[in-house]
Amino acid sequence: MNGPLNFTLQAKDGAARAGTLHTAHGEVQTPVFMPVGTAGTVKAMTADAVRSTGARMVLGNTYHLMLRPGAERVGRLGGLHRLMDWHGPILTDSGGFQVMSLAGLRKMDADGVTFQSHIDGSKHRLTPERSIEIQHLLDADVTMCFDECTPFPATHEVAAKSMRLSMKWAARSREAFTPRPGYGLFGIQQGSIFEDLRAESAKALTEIGFEGYAIGGLAVGEGQAEMFRTLDFSVPMLPQDKPRYLMGVGTPSDIIGAVGRGVDMFDCVIPTRSGRTGRAYTSRGVLNMRNARHADDASTLDPECDCPACTRHSRAYIQHLIRAEEMLGPMLLTWHNIRYYQTLTARLRAAILEGRFEAEAAAIMAKWETTPP
Ligand code: GUN
Ligand code: ZN
Repeated sequence: MNGPLNFTLQAKDGAARAGTLHTAHGEVQTPVFMPVGTAGTVKAMTADAVRSTGARMVLGNTYHLMLRPGAERVGRLGGLHRLMDWHGPILTDSGGFQVMSLAGLRKMDADGVTFQSHIDGSKHRLTPERSIEIQHLLDADVTMCFDECTPFPATHEVAAKSMRLSMKWAARSREAFTPRPGYGLFGIQQGSIFEDLRAESAKALTEIGFEGYAIGGLAVGEGQAEMFRTLDFSVPMLPQDKPRYLMGVGTPSDIIGAVGRGVDMFDCVIPTRSGRTGRAYTSRGVLNMRNARHADDASTLDPECDCPACTRHSRAYIQHLIRAEEMLGPMLLTWHNIRYYQTLTARLRAAILEGRFEAEAAAIMAKWETTPP
């Protein structure tokens, strides 16, 4: 591999795309769902288990890893791939979003953000330059620009100011990034739900030039209809020949709707977090495994799934594990949920390659509604 991180498109079906991301740690077929490995682990899963679900790329977080175990330490230990035994590609988020949602006291200025750790109250600072340096120490295949995720709702004036700050930080992130073969930097489009601001942001980012483009500031409380309306005009503003990544999204139906609007990459805590709280995403809808109706149910979680939870265990056993607060309960449900998300994106990709995306999307969604889980 000699160029930066490359993206090739195999097929388009309407706005939906099937592509391949070529990274320093291997290839990834898109549409792709990246399980979240915030603190150097996809919670409740070994790296082998994550790989066995079909996942090929995971996410890590600048914010968490800089606080614990520390970015320089991860660097000394050979980078995040080696530390977590994940030898496929890793994308890291840049930290600003997590500072805003997790840190204690925080103060933003034009240069960056100073904040208190949610772990021990210690004081830290992130700037575009430091965020990029940390992501380099972590050895992220995809580094994200340091940005501000504009809170929702925001007035046009507030959203414009916030987006313009993120565009300044995007230029500084590009400057700070060291190009290496198979590694890339993604810009993040902001602008809340305003078409003119999304256009201004897309223009600013494409003028700087990135290996990929993320859509930020969505799934922050606006609801699915508003998110889809915003994607309808925002996605076509981004370069056709580069990957597009919708940050922090989402439910299976969010992902289907966004793929249909031209998005290639996703990450979300839903499959992992809901696995730990007893929820299972299945081909026939969402199951709450705490519900008493599963207590004597010898049937499988999802008859269409080939994960260990579904092929080796009953709903009754999983319910018992969850209720008894046994660790294996969250482990099995997380495994299943990640496998479900991988099956979903693989089905969408296969359908796009065969020119039947709309029919496949409709069939998947009809099953959630018509067949009780
Ligand atoms: N995760 C979800 N939304 C965002 C966003 O707008 N920016 C960043 N950096 N991370 C996110
Ligand atoms: Zn399963």
